[in-house]
Amino acid sequence: MNIPTNNPQTSLQSAGIHKDIWFSGNEYEHYSQFIQKKNAAVLARLHKSSQRLNTIFELGCGTGNLTEEILLSCETNHIDALDISNDMISIAKSKSALNSVKFFCTPFLDFIPTIKYSAIFSNAAFHWLYPMYLESLIKMESMLLDNGLVYIATAGENLNSLAFDAWIDERLHNAFASHEYQPFASRRLDIAQFESMVASTPFILQDAFILERWAKIKISHYVEWFISSGALWNINEHEVPELKKFLICRLSESGDGQEYISMGHWSLFAILKK
Ligand SMILES: C[S@@+](CC[C@H](N)C(=O)[O-])C[C@H]1O[C@@H](n2cnc3c(N)ncnc32)[C@H](O)[C@@H]1O
Repeated sequence: MNIPTNNPQTSLQSAGIHKDIWFSGNEYEHYSQFIQKKNAAVLARLHKSSQRLNTIFELGCGTGNLTEEILLSCETNHIDALDISNDMISIAKSKSALNSVKFFCTPFLDFIPTIKYSAIFSNAAFHWLYPMYLESLIKMESMLLDNGLVYIATAGENLNSLAFDAWIDERLHNAFASHEYQPFASRRLDIAQFESMVASTPFILQDAFILERWAKIKISHYVEWFISSGALWNINEHEVPELKKFLICRLSESGDGQEYISMGHWSLFAILKK
């Protein structure tokens, strides 16, 4: 893959960057406990607890999975957490553990920071900035204090992810003709791609690794997760129930979604230093 930068954007790509299509906060909060919540805990613990972080920025906080983990693992008294979605942020705001967090509901690339940060954290959100990866990293760098750190987990790629995406795409191919379905694989980065992208920024890459997880889940639950975690980024909220039924049929033999599938999940974790 060529690292995309300054490409003309299709309506589909820009939909993920500037439009809130995340209207399933409750479902996301439920289904994210199986994978994203666990990855959030891993990511927050990558920071050495002895090093105080005075100011933290979180990109794509969603319902607050990572925000909660940052508060458990890092010494800080200032977290600014940003997300494009009102629905997701309203769930994060309702959590009493996050009372001290200041939330911003705006697309990341439109956000105008007023302070510099000691660290930026982001779990499972960076890939929604596709194809503006380089611009996003450069913006992050500009938001950091000297020696500032980035702890990021984004959609990762390895041979198993390619096989799994091909399996899903084969079943969902043509299912979204009227909704511009874009295979998720285009958003994934393998370690070499990530390294070469970081090499064109002022960041030093301290570490990068892929975490692969598998979960055995019912097809109907997979579809809930698929939709609530952003897979259909060009639909309208009223179309969701019909599409859920449709996707369940495409993926299951019986059509009722009660069979299980092995769901794979690949995250590229990285630590960057300014
Ligand atoms: C898969 S969720 C991850 C949420 C959370 N970080 C977690 O660990 O569970 C991705 C989040 O990225 C947010 N997002 C997508 N595009 C965004 C953008 N352009 N600017 C800010 N947030 C964005 C979505 O609203 C969603 O809450």
